[in-house]
Amino acid sequence: MTSQTWNPQSYLAAAGFVPVLGQPVVDLLAPQPGETILDLGCGDGTLTARIAGSGARVIGVDGSPEMVAAARARGLDARVMDGHALHLPEQVDAVFSNAALHWMKRDPAAVVAGVVRHLKPGGRFVGEFGGFGNVAAVTTALLAALAKRGIDGIARHPWYFPTADQYARLLEAAGLRVADISLFPRPTPLPQGMAGWLRTFAGPFVDDLGPAEQAAVQADVEALLRPSLCDAQGRWVADYVRLRFVATA
Ligand SMILES: C[S@@+](CC[C@H](N)C(=O)[O-])C[C@H]1O[C@@H](n2cnc3c(N)ncnc32)[C@H](O)[C@@H]1O
Repeated sequence: MTSQTWNPQSYLAAAGFVPVLGQPVVDLLAPQPGETILDLGCGDGTLTARIAGSGARVIGVDGSPEMVAAARARGLDARVMDGHALHLPEQVDAVFSNAALHWMKRDPAAVVAGVVRHLKPGGRFVGEFGGFGNVAAVTTALLAALAKRGIDGIARHPWYFPTADQYARLLEAAGLRVADISLFPRPTPLPQGMAGWLRTFAGPFVDDLGPAEQAAVQADVEALLRPSLCDAQGRWVADYVRLRFVATA
C-alpha cells in the first residue's frame, strides 16, 4: 500500500459525505436477506452497516487497522486485509466497494483477480470509485506546489483513476461480464473546505514534509484552486469524477 493514514474521527468530520454519496451504490447492489456480501475497503463501516441492515451477512475488509477498529466498534465483522491479497475462507454472493478501489493502485488486476476468486458462480461485483479525471484540478495544484519545492509529486501520486473502457477491459480480462459501467462528474461540496480535504486525503503527497512546509503547500494549493473551486461565499467544491459499475461472474 502507499503510505496512507486514516483517522476515523477526522474522516467522519471532513469526509462524511463519502458514505452518504455512496448510498446509490448500495441501492445498485440491492442486498438480499440471506446473502453473504464482502465490502472491500469498508472504512469505518458506515455503508457496511447499511448493507447489514438489509438482512444480508456482511464481511468488511480494509487495509487500515484504525478504520477496521471503528467498524468493529459498530458490531460488524471487519478484518484488516490488503485488497491486493484477498483471502477469505468462503465465497460470497456479491462484492461491494465504495470509494476505495482507486486507493489500490499497486496492482488493480490483482485486486480484481481476488474479487473473482471469492465470487460464487453468478455472483456480482458492484462498486464506485474515482475515475479518469477525478480531482484533476486538485491533483494538478498539488503537483505544482510540490514542483515549486523541487519535489516530484508524480512519484507520490497514490491513486488509480481509470477510464470506463480501461476498467471494463480489466474486469473482462479477469472473466467477469460487465453489465453496466459509467464515468460521470460529481462536483462535491467539502464540509471542511479544501484544507479539510487535503488533511484527509492528500497525506501521501506531503506526509514526509515538516509542519511549516505542509502548511505552505496547503496555502499554495488553496491559492491555485480558489478561482475555480471556491465560490464567493467561501464554499469549496471538489472536482470529483466517479466510475460506477456492475459486473457478474
Ligand atoms: C475513502 S475510504 C472509503 C471507505 C468506505 N468504503 C466508505 O464508503 O466510507 C477508502 C478506504 O479504502 C481503504 N484502502 C485503501 N487501500 C486499501 C487496500 N490496499 N486494501 C484494503 N483497503 C484499502 C482505506 O483504508 C479506507 O478505509
